[in-house]
Amino acid sequence: MADQSPQIFRGLRGVYADTTTSSFIDGEVGKLLYRGYNIHDLAEKSTFEEIVYLLLYGELPTKPQLAEIDGTLRASRSLPSEVIDVLKVVKDSHPMDALRTAVSVLGCVDPERDDNSVEATRRKGIRITAQVPTIVTAHHRIRSGQDPVDPDPGLNHAGNFLYMLFGERPTEEEMKLMDVDFIIHAEHGSNASSFAARVAASTVSDLHSAVVTGVGVLKGPWHGGAAEAVMKMALDIGTPENAEAYARNIIDNGGRIMGFGHRVYKAEDPRAGHMRDRSESLSRQKGQPQWFQILSHLEREVMRPYQAKGIYVNVDFWAGSIYYLLGIPDDLFVPIFAVGRIPGWTLQCMEQYEDNIIIRPLTEYVGPMDLEYVPIEDRG
Ligand code: CMC
Repeated sequence: MADQSPQIFRGLRGVYADTTTSSFIDGEVGKLLYRGYNIHDLAEKSTFEEIVYLLLYGELPTKPQLAEIDGTLRASRSLPSEVIDVLKVVKDSHPMDALRTAVSVLGCVDPERDDNSVEATRRKGIRITAQVPTIVTAHHRIRSGQDPVDPDPGLNHAGNFLYMLFGERPTEEEMKLMDVDFIIHAEHGSNASSFAARVAASTVSDLHSAVVTGVGVLKGPWHGGAAEAVMKMALDIGTPENAEAYARNIIDNGGRIMGFGHRVYKAEDPRAGHMRDRSESLSRQKGQPQWFQILSHLEREVMRPYQAKGIYVNVDFWAGSIYYLLGIPDDLFVPIFAVGRIPGWTLQCMEQYEDNIIIRPLTEYVGPMDLEYVPIEDRG
């Protein structure tokens, strides 16, 4: 008799759930396009504001279009008082938990909360993109016993984020670092958090609910949490000579080296190189070359044999060292990923709403069948 078992694609590996015009990824050669444009051009020549427009409208903006979206982003950064009140209540929580909660509150008070049209979703996505940096920095300052810093409309998205975090205007170079970081994190196809956000949208739930879902999924160390884990690893390793034994111990015990490997990329993640060079020059500038040396040794020497298995560095490998050198606390590394990813989540939800079908896969039941129900008083 033929085998009746369904074919199972664990982790949905290799499964295409729909079509998209958001981003193209060729994992075999390490190629990434946003809306058709190569990530290398975008990371080097564009700005995060331009990427927000590109993702949400499908084409690069003209000068007036860029000025308009930039103006809207700058004008939308303030938070409703309800959000600040809740951030005070959850001040001792992990910043990702606080962010998840605060986005949920935003959803309760957003003027278009019940409008799931594509146009309203785009407007809400722009608002959330503007508000999330204010949430992350306000929570950090409240938990540190400081007052939140009001957004500065004179600064771009990246510069204003650093300003609200530290209360000081960043240098041009620091702003550029954050800008590139936000650009390379903005969109990435059907990654776990974007897919989860799409599942939420597929039930015709609202964008804020989808973003709350995305934040919850991004938090895990196998997804957005890797940058934090990489820097912890570098601090634990301490010197390049210790890297080999440290990594061997993890792998021999069935663990994973954070910042390496990817479900789709079996070559180097094209986003990683943009952070590598910047990590090297920042390390030198800050007089702390050891972190770059440790990570570089790990990549070039210790993990080189794993390239044969398709395990290369991913976007998170170098990002953590940059945040660390900028003086950003390690539990803010994942929220920074979220700050960059809001346009991507919004775009995925817009696509889902535009041509919706509920996302509902199957799991094969392998438990017992037709058991006899025994009343509780008769159970042994
Ligand atoms: N260290 C050691 N071994 C690894 C690693 C790693 N980082 N990643 C994968 N492997 C092994 C894995 O255990 C498997 O071994 P085996 O064949 O013996 O079972 C083999 O390589 C193939 O793994 P895979 O099937 O390609 O991996 P996956 O698609 O199930 O998981 C991943 C992808 C990202 C969850 C995984 O590579 C990982 O846990 N990496 C570390 C966490 C990390 O850096 N995450 C950030 C990802 S990039 C940012 C984002 O978009 O989320």
